Amino acid sequence: MKTAGEIFRKHLAMTTPFPIGIEIESAQGSWLYGPNGERYLDFISGISVSNLGHGHPHIKAAIHEQTEKHLHTMVYGEYVQSSPNGLAQKLSAILPESLNCCYFVNSGAESIEGALKLAKRVTGRTELVAFRGSYHGSTHGALSVSGNETKKQAFRPLLPDVRFLRFNEPADLPQISKSTAAVVVETIQGDAGVRIPDVSYMQALSQRCKEVGALLILDEIQTGIGRTGSWFAFEQFGIVPDILCTAKALGGGLPLGAFIADQDLMAHFTEKPMLGHITTFGGNPLACAAALASLEVIEKEQILEGVEQKGVLIENLIQNPRIKEIRRRGLFFAIDFETAEEVQIIVQSLIKRGVLSFWFLSCPNSFRIAPPLNISEEDIRWACNQIQEAIAELKV
Ligand SMILES: Cc1ncc(COP(=O)(O)O)c(C=O)c1O
Repeated sequence: MKTAGEIFRKHLAMTTPFPIGIEIESAQGSWLYGPNGERYLDFISGISVSNLGHGHPHIKAAIHEQTEKHLHTMVYGEYVQSSPNGLAQKLSAILPESLNCCYFVNSGAESIEGALKLAKRVTGRTELVAFRGSYHGSTHGALSVSGNETKKQAFRPLLPDVRFLRFNEPADLPQISKSTAAVVVETIQGDAGVRIPDVSYMQALSQRCKEVGALLILDEIQTGIGRTGSWFAFEQFGIVPDILCTAKALGGGLPLGAFIADQDLMAHFTEKPMLGHITTFGGNPLACAAALASLEVIEKEQILEGVEQKGVLIENLIQNPRIKEIRRRGLFFAIDFETAEEVQIIVQSLIKRGVLSFWFLSCPNSFRIAPPLNISEEDIRWACNQIQEAIAELKV
């Protein structure tokens, strides 16, 4: 008989030759549990997904309740269903006035695909402006506007007419022109290693888009739903996008994405051609019910109010002379070491110690943590202690 690990390696597509490969049987709060009594503190939230940890009773109750009512009934956009309705209404209440119309999809990359298509349709233009160091997803369109050349090379030709600018470099902004359909940008670059732009830069970028009639698409797939201490990071930059992309933590642990814009913009998908963007599972009732419940928890438990304090606590507890730099906004961290090798050793050592963390594809010398926003102070202290011990063990 094959072991679980053998089945995983043989019958599930592998994305790397060296997957983390730990076995997970259950999860509760900030902890994941293996089949033989192993326990791991989730200090990465499944890469910024489990912002409320695991098994929150309110989210579970909402999922059970929706399961009793109905699951999928029809492709996106045809039937009136209380679950996507409730979520769209809640998101509109949280967001600025102009972000009032949600198109629900199943993932981050899909939300980018929809946003790019919408921008082309609204402006009648084709050029897309994107940024070096960016990551927007692995589908053809999203990959086309992502910066990591190594990941793109094997899949060319990708979308034509994409222009790459340097992130946080005002001198490049004049390249956004009247030919530009959209500028797509992460409010804080994630995969590049938590790169936080200047407020003045983001405002100038937004202004330039307005001047030339290009739509500003903000990718908040990783930074949204409280990760940086506000519902969305753009609130901290005094700008509002024309189209907002969200996913990851949005679904409360179920697969869900959305691109959100003003109804006037979104109306362009309704005609010429009709059905300008379609999806079977987008707005899945179960995912939307979990998402609404998770937004309710964030509000009711005042989760956003605690994010910065926890971020500061972690930052203080992990200080170490081997660390070159810590970049952080809220509970979104990149911790720079001299080499990628050090990061790999720390990540592996932490797994053995029962703490889950990760690295960045486009910034391998950065160590990545993004704990659940409702993690306890006790768990934070324990994890940071393990991190200190893992760093102390470094011999390289
Ligand atoms: C900023 C950003 N955009 C887009 C994506 C793609 O999301 P998904 O993996 O759900 O397609 C990710 C995923 O890591 C991301 O971090």
